[in-house]
Amino acid sequence: MVNRIGGGWLRRLQGDKSQSNEAIGEITTENVPQHVAIIMDGNGRWAKARGLPRIAGHHSGMKTVKRITKAADRIGVRYLTMYAFSTENWKRPKAEVEFLMKLPQEFLSIELDELIENNVQVKMMGIRDLLPDYTVSAIEEAVRKTENNTGLVLNFALNYGSRMEMVEAARKLARSAASGELDPEAIDERMFGSSLLSGNLPDPDLLIRTSGELRLSNFMLWQLAYSEFWFTDVYWPEFSEEHFYEAIREYQRRARRYGGL
Ligand code: IPE
Ligand code: IPE
Ligand code: MG
Repeated sequence: MVNRIGGGWLRRLQGDKSQSNEAIGEITTENVPQHVAIIMDGNGRWAKARGLPRIAGHHSGMKTVKRITKAADRIGVRYLTMYAFSTENWKRPKAEVEFLMKLPQEFLSIELDELIENNVQVKMMGIRDLLPDYTVSAIEEAVRKTENNTGLVLNFALNYGSRMEMVEAARKLARSAASGELDPEAIDERMFGSSLLSGNLPDPDLLIRTSGELRLSNFMLWQLAYSEFWFTDVYWPEFSEEHFYEAIREYQRRARRYGGL
């Protein structure tokens, strides 16, 4: 499975036998989670602990996004969803929100070429209204320039909220039913699921949350129904490849039963 399509970082690793795989450790290639979703949390506390402004934590967290994208690609993860801004994060001070809204543009201006080179497909999951134009256009450019790539899907959850996406999906289906286009009895889990913002992405196999918080904070409530959860106290800016591979190894030790035996 790992050898299927893969991104560039994976190919490079396979081509370079001299590169040591120490960090990867005992990860088995057969049971790599296809979709990993991450609640990137703890940027503010990381900064505070260092006497820095919260935005310094967000800036540093951007480097972790790059690091973990590469790490995921190296082992053959196909979809990586990163929770970058929730529908509730608008409650934060205006200056912090403005800083967060500028990060996608900054991240992509530094990383887009390398993402393209490594066959990554950039996607976004969230409501575009309310997001500043410069944020949306930076992401749309990345989506457009990577749409024909066949490697890792890097999916940013930006202005994303799961309750809101379910209400929207219900409205959309109700509108079609009211207009007579859709028989309400035809609505099933598959149709409802594909009406969500995650569209046709497979459900996450593994959810990671950093910073010691043990909650979902309105993230992929429907899609995480049978995902494995892994939590760490580590703050997002210092979340390393080793931490990521620790989560993967733990995932590989679990038995997923989906209600069966
Ligand atoms: C995660 O870090 C990033 C976003 C939610 C945008 P936080 O900003 O939530 O950091 P903490 O939780 O306050 O430490
Ligand atoms: C969840 O983190 C949202 C993102 C990581 C983008 P929060 O920091 O907003 O969550 P709460 O407020 O602690 O639940
Ligand atoms: Mg937080």
